[in-house]
Amino acid sequence: MEVVLLPTPEDCGRVVADAVQAVLTAPDRRGAPVALGLATGSSPLLAYRELIRRHTEEGLSFAGVEAFLLDEYVGLPAGHPESYREVIRRELTDAVGIDPARVHGPDGAGGDPLAAAPAYEERLRAAGPVAVQLLGIGANGHVGFNEPGSSLASRTRVKTLTEQTRADNARFFGGDAGAVPRHVLTQGLGTILDARHLVLVATGEGKAAPVAAAVEGPLTASVPGSVLQLHPHVTVVVDSAAGSRLARADHYRYVLEHKLADQGW
Ligand code: GLP
Repeated sequence: MEVVLLPTPEDCGRVVADAVQAVLTAPDRRGAPVALGLATGSSPLLAYRELIRRHTEEGLSFAGVEAFLLDEYVGLPAGHPESYREVIRRELTDAVGIDPARVHGPDGAGGDPLAAAPAYEERLRAAGPVAVQLLGIGANGHVGFNEPGSSLASRTRVKTLTEQTRADNARFFGGDAGAVPRHVLTQGLGTILDARHLVLVATGEGKAAPVAAAVEGPLTASVPGSVLQLHPHVTVVVDSAAGSRLARADHYRYVLEHKLADQGW
């Protein structure tokens, strides 16, 4: 894993945007369709803002992109402002010209979440592999909505949120944890591992413990983010607060300082 420890959240946003741009502009792509894995939550927002800036000011093109969400709430009606499909349209895809028909997520609104899970797996399989998958990490170490205890080999399925996650996400529902759906559909940890490049971004003191556990702790279902240790191409992008509990912080900074020219992310 490459751990990129940077001074500010804005610096993190730029590096994450670089990783996405690298996929969009890869010389061997030649305009072919590409699957991007998008995350919601606050962690990727600065990266999205930077991608929108590059799109509007520098002409970065999202033509040919098929966007795939990590997860979705079960039971919010289609078009609900806090459904992740709506959130990602608002925060990124509309602004960079990705047609809503090309934004895919597990169908949490259709009334049959148990059928929606394998349907989403099939859609991902058909369009994949995802070229770059953006990830955040929850305070309890979850990625997507894979709560602690999730199988490291899991595929897209229905999960029940922990009360902590519902409380953490209450801020998006007027502060009312009871309004946060209890069930979700999420790509499994095994599904996430199918992407070619995983980019996890975390900022702020509240992420210091889960980041350290995921990056330097043991591989365990108790810290779902630790599954990243199994993937051959992972970039963990953290600001100094989120990286403050990393035991090898000095080494990560040293590696970054001595990156080879053109080594990329
Ligand atoms: C949410 C999402 C995750 C996200 C995580 C962290 O509940 N389902 O995909 O990465 O929790 O959220 P945030 O980035 O807002 O801290």
